[in-house]
Amino acid sequence: MKRWLSTAMLALACGGGGPELSESAQRGRAVYIANCAACHAADPNLDGALGPAVAGSSLELLEARVLHAEYPPGYTPKRTSGQMVALPHLAGDLDALHAYLAEVAR
Ligand code: HEC
Repeated sequence: MKRWLSTAMLALACGGGGPELSESAQRGRAVYIANCAACHAADPNLDGALGPAVAGSSLELLEARVLHAEYPPGYTPKRTSGQMVALPHLAGDLDALHAYLAEVAR
């Protein structure tokens, strides 16, 4: 019981159970919430309403998918609805997004 309580408090202190994020990842989290979470789950480890889980996505995949609505050569997409359009204005945020999706992956 005691252990459960301290674990719960630690989870609360970290804002929802995630590990501490680097500065870059915190910026990436804000970008993700603002631009991605409408379709992808608020927790990138889970499938969202439209988009699949994206935690742990490689920079190569993010660049292809987010900037060009494409996939790296040989990559098999998790879904093929074609509902995600390119978001090229996020080019300057890709590194932060990548850091966030890497650090939050479990
Ligand atoms: C309009 C809804 C929508 C938005 C907004 C959106 N996505 Fe998606 N995303 C999807 C859908 C749907 C797919 C699955 C492919 C398809 O069906 O087109 C997808 C696929 C992906 C994939 C490929 C997953 C895989 O491994 O196959 C990545 C990576 C991704 N999205 C990242 C993002 C990021 C990062 C953002 C924000 C910058 C974002 N998406 C914004 C709907 C969205």
